[in-house]
Amino acid sequence: MSKNYKIALDNKIFEIVSKASQELNLESYVIGGFVRDYLLQRDFKKDIDIVAIGSGIDLALKVAELLPNKPKVQVFKNYGTAMLRYKEIDIEFVGARKESYSEDSRNPVVENGTLEDDQNRRDFTINALAFSLNEKNFGDLVDPFDGSTDLVNKIIKTPLNPDITYSDDPLRMMRAIRFATQLNFVIEAESLKAIERNKDRIKIISGERIVDELNKILSTEKPSIGFLHLYKTGLLDIILPELTALNNVEEIEGHTHKNNFYHTLEVVDNICPNTDDVWLRWAALLHDIGKAPTKRFNKKQGWTFHGHEFLGGKMVKKIFERLHMPLNQKMKFVSKMVMLSSRPIVLSEDLVTDSAVRRLVFDAGEDVDNLMTLCEADITTKNPTKFKKYHNNFDIVRRKIIEVEERDHVRNFQPPISGEQIMELFNLKPSREIGMLKEAVKEAILEGEIPNEYQAAYDFVLAKAEKMGLKKVV
Ligand code: CTP
Repeated sequence: MSKNYKIALDNKIFEIVSKASQELNLESYVIGGFVRDYLLQRDFKKDIDIVAIGSGIDLALKVAELLPNKPKVQVFKNYGTAMLRYKEIDIEFVGARKESYSEDSRNPVVENGTLEDDQNRRDFTINALAFSLNEKNFGDLVDPFDGSTDLVNKIIKTPLNPDITYSDDPLRMMRAIRFATQLNFVIEAESLKAIERNKDRIKIISGERIVDELNKILSTEKPSIGFLHLYKTGLLDIILPELTALNNVEEIEGHTHKNNFYHTLEVVDNICPNTDDVWLRWAALLHDIGKAPTKRFNKKQGWTFHGHEFLGGKMVKKIFERLHMPLNQKMKFVSKMVMLSSRPIVLSEDLVTDSAVRRLVFDAGEDVDNLMTLCEADITTKNPTKFKKYHNNFDIVRRKIIEVEERDHVRNFQPPISGEQIMELFNLKPSREIGMLKEAVKEAILEGEIPNEYQAAYDFVLAKAEKMGLKKVV
């Protein structure tokens, strides 16, 4: 006898879907994430999938009719699906399908099917679980692949031969890895091996869908689990070859360098307790990508990575373009973080001067705290003395940032004397001299020669201008 979970279906919407199904004389089930997350006692994620044995669109329209506020139904005719919103919950309706995808695209060839056909073509046994919404057995669990046991044993497994499941939708290879990371589950051996075999099929998937999964992996507590799977299955080499290029250690004349791939994964894990900002996590993931192309060896210095931050920052833009990620402030933020990612470290290794801190705050602006969070996560040394020393130095840098900022306000630097004011003083039009004077004022403030105040800047400009042979007219 199947287990009954009527208790999970106490939301009014299920009663209404059940009633609508009766009126249309068809069967319906709630399926997928809602059932999985209920059984896992995970937070309900405000997204419910309903499968109708018949037309999902008709069922959605009937449900909308029965709901007091008569919500709008969004119909996707090509896919045979429909969606409506009920009290902040997105409810998606689909007719049970038997389908397979053509070899070279995601366009499905669809036929109507039974519930079991529909469950067969879902991605994993734990996502193929359904609760009945039918009067005769309302709340019964329908679990033909024993997904509930896989939930208990923490296993990700495809319902069919994984080669078929993945080739139906290659994104599922990434979904397997994402669920394994999110839920801390193991991917069953065959389902894992098939990812390796089918990895090249990921190339037909759009960047947007891939990035969606990467973002979900990056949003977990320990993203390294996912990135190691992506690496071992060969997917990472296709999606982010800039990262796998970091996975080597070379030795010349007894000099080695650290494996920057494993280091990067440690940095990503390290930053997670300190930020939920997925873009800062992206910065952690990409902070060393410039190291592979800039790596050199010379007898005097050993291994060097000169200019890797700058190159890395430029590579960020290319990656965002390739993966169809947003080319907006988020991309600029990640690129900036990568470009500045060594600055606080260099600071903290040396004596921390006020002017160096002022320059850091000036360059990082609003993002200086995020930059510090990134750099602290970058400390992966296993030498406890060094570990302590670097962290102590970062504490000093953080304190100095506050002090310097209180005094000099360089975080959102506005020159205390404007270009217009300088032009008026000397009756000059916009010119090279004006640019030089403005730059000199900024430098003098950053160096701590003058405070960030109008009178000091005014006096400084007069003195500097005199040396340049300019005469004050007012
Ligand atoms: N599904 C599938 N193959 C996919 C995507 C989805 O078989 N490539 C099925 C699964 O049964 C899944 C359901 O559609 O449970 C809903 O998909 P989606 O909302 O993307 O995922 P959820 O499982 O609900 O989980 P999450 O919201 O965390 O992605």
